[in-house]
Amino acid sequence: MGKGYPIPKKELLKNIKDVSGIISLLSDKIDSSVIDSMSNCKVIANYAVGFNNIDVQYARQKGITVTNTPDVLTDSTADVAMGLALACARRFYEGENLVRKNKFKGWAPKLLLGIELKNKIFGIVGAGRIGIATAIRAKAFGCKIIYTSNSAKKDFEVSTGAKKVSLNTLLKKADFISLHVPMNEKTFHLLNKERLALLKETAVLINTARGEVVDEKELIKILKKKKIFAAGFDVYENEPAINPKLMKLNNVILLPHLGSATFETREAMALLAAKNVDAVLAGRKPITPVY
Ligand code: DGY
Repeated sequence: MGKGYPIPKKELLKNIKDVSGIISLLSDKIDSSVIDSMSNCKVIANYAVGFNNIDVQYARQKGITVTNTPDVLTDSTADVAMGLALACARRFYEGENLVRKNKFKGWAPKLLLGIELKNKIFGIVGAGRIGIATAIRAKAFGCKIIYTSNSAKKDFEVSTGAKKVSLNTLLKKADFISLHVPMNEKTFHLLNKERLALLKETAVLINTARGEVVDEKELIKILKKKKIFAAGFDVYENEPAINPKLMKLNNVILLPHLGSATFETREAMALLAAKNVDAVLAGRKPITPVY
């Protein structure tokens, strides 16, 4: 693996015995074996907002503080969610492919017709920071917003006209569905076979959250049968392995987990992670602890 990629677990275990803190990547599985191999560790600062790669409960038991990088990556990730929605709706992949393969024979009235965003219902599953930022973007494109959340978000409702609905209602009604829930035991395969069957034939599903939130095999089946219009993936169930069946589909956009991948955001994430480590090691409160 080249420089800039995650450290293989064997190498990680060899080098962390005496560290006081680590900055982990979302691709580093910080399980009990890794935690047990550090005898002096006080802080695990995840370089991501999601922290499903860390056994947080076990770390806490061991007196280790876990932190993440919220806020700084909200806009960049929402941009990718919206970009995927547009790319799916307007069939950018098929269009690009046509041009690159030299098959563009000129403008035609029915060439690669797609779906317009204006007046469509945009469903946000999980109206946290990134979900709300995505909804604001969708609203600017003329969409009506519905959302799910554990609690009603009054300010969000007032500023965007968003309406809180149940998950099943959202899946039945929405033209666009964008996933923004964290991955945990409650959200694993939240979109299972039964729920995926609720989607409209014209629906576009976007996942910038975590691959495991959707039963990917079932999603591939409905994409293959054209039971939905398209899906945009930034994350995958067995990341970085991509199901080969997915590669064969034309009605998907496949990105390599680019949600927070901007110069500005990655710098802000690095700074925040470093500040969290510094705070804990200096005996101060961390800036963004994970509770
Ligand atoms: C995160 O930081 O958890 C996101 O996956 C960024 O894309």
